[in-house]
Amino acid sequence: MSGRPRVHVVARVPAPVQAALEREFELVPEADDVEGLVAIPSVRVDEALLDRCGPRLRVVANYAVGLDNVDLEPARARGIVVANTPDVLTRATAELTLALLLALVRRVAEGDRLVRRGDPWRLEPTFMLGHGLDGRSLGVVGAGRIGTEVARLAEAFGMRPVLLRSTDPLEDALACDVVTLHCPLTPQTRHLVDASALARMRPHAVLVNTSRGPVVDEAALVEALREGRLAGAALDVYEDEPAVHPGLVELENVVLAPHLGSATHEAREAMGMLCVEALRAVLLEGRVPRNVVP
Ligand code: GLV
Repeated sequence: MSGRPRVHVVARVPAPVQAALEREFELVPEADDVEGLVAIPSVRVDEALLDRCGPRLRVVANYAVGLDNVDLEPARARGIVVANTPDVLTRATAELTLALLLALVRRVAEGDRLVRRGDPWRLEPTFMLGHGLDGRSLGVVGAGRIGTEVARLAEAFGMRPVLLRSTDPLEDALACDVVTLHCPLTPQTRHLVDASALARMRPHAVLVNTSRGPVVDEAALVEALREGRLAGAALDVYEDEPAVHPGLVELENVVLAPHLGSATHEAREAMGMLCVEALRAVLLEGRVPRNVVP
């Protein structure tokens, strides 16, 4: 027995984060009789997991800004502090949003597939034309940290952002050339972009989703894309992750990334250190962490 608080980390973390955890905590391979838990978006922190952790559990650090995987009520009822990792992933996620949008409208992923297939090609005035971003309107659904940063970066490309708060009419975003989603997943935002919303988008418009998959009705999106009612989609997240709707995989005007929003070395290390800080605050210093979920 080391005497250090027992912590279970549900996934492998970057080496500096692992080292920081090992310095202060006893890392245990199972969620069993632990005081701290580090979770990730693909792991549901529900009553069952809290039960497995045991009655000594005092803090859950979610290695993510999104909290839809954490059942907050049962955690609160047990007096467990929940922390997340805001701010440090804002730029990384905003950059990925622009990367996906550019990949879509400039047909980068499609071009990569063509080159790798060995298809014949040459530069011609009409070969693989896409669209530029300059002058395009950008409907940003969710005017939080990430949405605001996406708008700021998009302005550098000459885009005209329209930031949509949760109380603003969705129409304002749906009327734009590009619609990008940055809201949390809640009962209110589940299938926010459904068949009816998609029908209200313009046929030349494209959809980008780096928020959470269930914000979009994936089957309805496939239908809209197949029928040419929408020009394309760039997705980092899926309704039933890691499964991807087979209809999406078949379409050339769709860019698919495997939930890479915050996947930079810089962001993931900073996120990990925020998790360590939350564990330290609660388990070693007996105080509320600065990244506590209110
Ligand atoms: C990742 O998706 C996050 O919420 O941080």
